[in-house]
Amino acid sequence: MEKSFTVTPWKVEGDIDYNRLIKDFGTEPVNDEILQRIKKHAGELHHFLRRKIFFSHRDLNWILDEYEKGNKFYLYTGRGPSGNTHIGHLVPWIFTKWLQDKFDAELWFQMTDDEKYLFNERLELEEVNKLAYENALDVIALGFRQGKTFIFSDIDYAKTLYRQSLRVARKLTVSTAKAVFGFNDSNNVGQLFFTSVQSVPSFLPSVLKGKNVPCLIPHAIDQDAHFRVTRDIAPKLGYYKPASIHCRFLPPLTGPGGKMSASVAETAIYTTDAPEIAERKIRRYAFSGGRDTIDEHRRKGGNPDIDVSYQWLTFFEESDEKLRNIYDDYKTGALLTGELKQILIEKLSAFLKKHQENREKARKVLDKFIIRD
Ligand code: TYM
Repeated sequence: MEKSFTVTPWKVEGDIDYNRLIKDFGTEPVNDEILQRIKKHAGELHHFLRRKIFFSHRDLNWILDEYEKGNKFYLYTGRGPSGNTHIGHLVPWIFTKWLQDKFDAELWFQMTDDEKYLFNERLELEEVNKLAYENALDVIALGFRQGKTFIFSDIDYAKTLYRQSLRVARKLTVSTAKAVFGFNDSNNVGQLFFTSVQSVPSFLPSVLKGKNVPCLIPHAIDQDAHFRVTRDIAPKLGYYKPASIHCRFLPPLTGPGGKMSASVAETAIYTTDAPEIAERKIRRYAFSGGRDTIDEHRRKGGNPDIDVSYQWLTFFEESDEKLRNIYDDYKTGALLTGELKQILIEKLSAFLKKHQENREKARKVLDKFIIRD
């Protein structure tokens, strides 16, 4: 029997079969051939690529073809500011920063405060708008380049965005929106319109620069539905289809499957959690692939493939060698669950400490990254 799971921009549930998503969504796998092409230009491969955490794409070969012809691409990604940023959100952004450095690309970063207002009855306009700027600190803290990175709230950049959203909305029928997003008559009308706004940065620099510029969108696979719509409409407006590269989800602490969700506090670690809080959450909640007793674990070994601490290390431990040793030691039983958690705790604490320092520094330069109209 096929396992059931759901992956939409607003709901991710169940045991996700990523290969099946490639088939269902009609994307292409990130294969060794394309990795070699990226390596040729970047000089190396990010561990997210080496481990196929970025596992799927659309039109990445075309992006590289254009790049090789001297037609440089820009990057576009975003965040729906519904609360604090969690470390899962950082996954596409860390990779985007790497792409910015390696390909000297501009980044256009959309804060969809409008989306969060429309989709979450509990959040008020002032709140989502404020969160957009709080979340922007997490983006800046990752080291994106000033002058090449443009962050905007949909609400505060509305004059520019609205004009272009109208052009998209006119080409989008209600029946397409229903089919792609699963909307029905009980959805509010703003929700149907919203995807038009998320489409716009896929071609906005082409409008502003007066010439078509290729766009590459790194994101987790949940956002793909939006860009399926965009890819259909952009050529009708005279622009390139945006290319994209998709990552898997950092699983929730209570794992092993699904995606870390910002609304379930104990399953997530937020970028603003003090290292001690992160430590407590990992010790208390991290789903373990270990055996019931130490004795049994030593004899039979643990299962790293379902162990969330190990899964998280595949995202946060950059050294392939260290990771392989951890895998082997856990599988043979030489490494206990408590010890594995300790490795993760040390890795994440160091990351959080640095990130939080950078986040505070980012407050001083926030205005240099924000565009509004
Ligand atoms: P949002 O705020 O839900 O998520 C922000 C980004 O994080 C990705 N993501 C994850 N990646 C790895 N592991 C996880 N557990 C995890 N959870 C979320 C999301 O795929 C996303 O890339 N509507 C969007 C904001 C947006 C956007 C964009 C995102 C506007 N334009 C262009 C990507 C690209 C949203 O609410 O994202």
